[in-house]
Amino acid sequence: MGRPLLLLLILVLSVLGVLGALGGWAFVMSGAYDVSATKPHWRPVYELLEVAMHRSVQQRGDATAVPEAALRDPQLQEIGASCFRAHCVACHGGPGVPPASFALGLQPVPRSLTDSARSLSPGELMWVTRHGIKMSGMPAWEYRLSEEQLLAVTAFVSERLPRLSVPGYRELTGQAVTACGPVEPAGSDKAQGVRARGELALRQHGCTACHAIPGVTGPDSGVGPSLDGFARRQLIAGRLTNTAVNLERWIRDPQAIDPNTAMPNLGVSERSAREMAQYLHQGRGQP
Ligand code: HEC
Ligand code: HEC
Repeated sequence: MGRPLLLLLILVLSVLGVLGALGGWAFVMSGAYDVSATKPHWRPVYELLEVAMHRSVQQRGDATAVPEAALRDPQLQEIGASCFRAHCVACHGGPGVPPASFALGLQPVPRSLTDSARSLSPGELMWVTRHGIKMSGMPAWEYRLSEEQLLAVTAFVSERLPRLSVPGYRELTGQAVTACGPVEPAGSDKAQGVRARGELALRQHGCTACHAIPGVTGPDSGVGPSLDGFARRQLIAGRLTNTAVNLERWIRDPQAIDPNTAMPNLGVSERSAREMAQYLHQGRGQP
């Protein structure tokens, strides 16, 4: 008795699903949606993206354990202030300081972080800073800041920035300019497998901007040679025997090997170069 009805329902739902998918595809292919950064998202699209972003951050950020006491350490906040000035103010601006000109052309425009601590917990702030936000222009900092600097900038944004005056900000960032020096970046979680770490390191250093790399989603660029099947290659850039050590050397400083190569030095740390080489040499046994 109920069976024909159920089948009919399934049929109707499938037809509706297919029609919906076709409609969506037709909309995408028609080019009707304006991707220019001079037009804001449609309000419903904007709201949807905002909710999706905040739910996503809440799901993940809460789990990040942030030592509460450390956040109130004024010295750590000062390191955070100098990191903020070095890396964040260009996009987000600061008390009395405008964002850089290019940042004003971003869509969505990066908001002032002065009141972000009201809607984001320290764990969520640190998660966003570490991982960035896809398709928004917010970079991931885990390969650019150390673990301590990530915590410091979180301490600054959550505890100090919300009640900082213009002269206070000027004084704080003026005296602490040197504290956010380059260091071994936090990098990815060491508990992840070799594959995941290598893939992340390749993406986080922009290798996919020029190379097609199997298993790594990127723009499919042909500026550099495809790295497909690299484990089986005899030579690196036609110059070096393809050993793990040589590959790490090439990745860290290609111009030391060939001064005229178009491949730039991307400031890859020793650890990240090792993880990338392991990824590219997968399938050839012990690297
Ligand atoms: C290239 C530009 C750029 C830089 C540099 C940048 N951000 Fe962002 N950031 C964005 C954009 C774009 C967004 C998403 C729009 C928004 O919510 O502001 C964002 C969002 C955020 C958010 C979420 C804010 C909220 O209330 O939802 C936090 C937190 C944040 N950034 C922290 C930082 C920190 C800390 C730094 C420096 C280490 C930094 N950002 C550097 C562009 C940038
Ligand atoms: C701006 C573009 C660009 C970026 C970014 C780039 N490369 Fe390259 N890469 C090249 C070019 C061009 C070559 C060819 C160099 C030559 O033969 O002189 C090359 C060569 C290579 C080779 C040797 C390929 C072969 O066929 O022998 C490897 C391996 C490599 N790159 C890895 C990387 C890794 C890993 C990264 C990220 C850290 C990276 N590249 C980032 C442009 C780039």
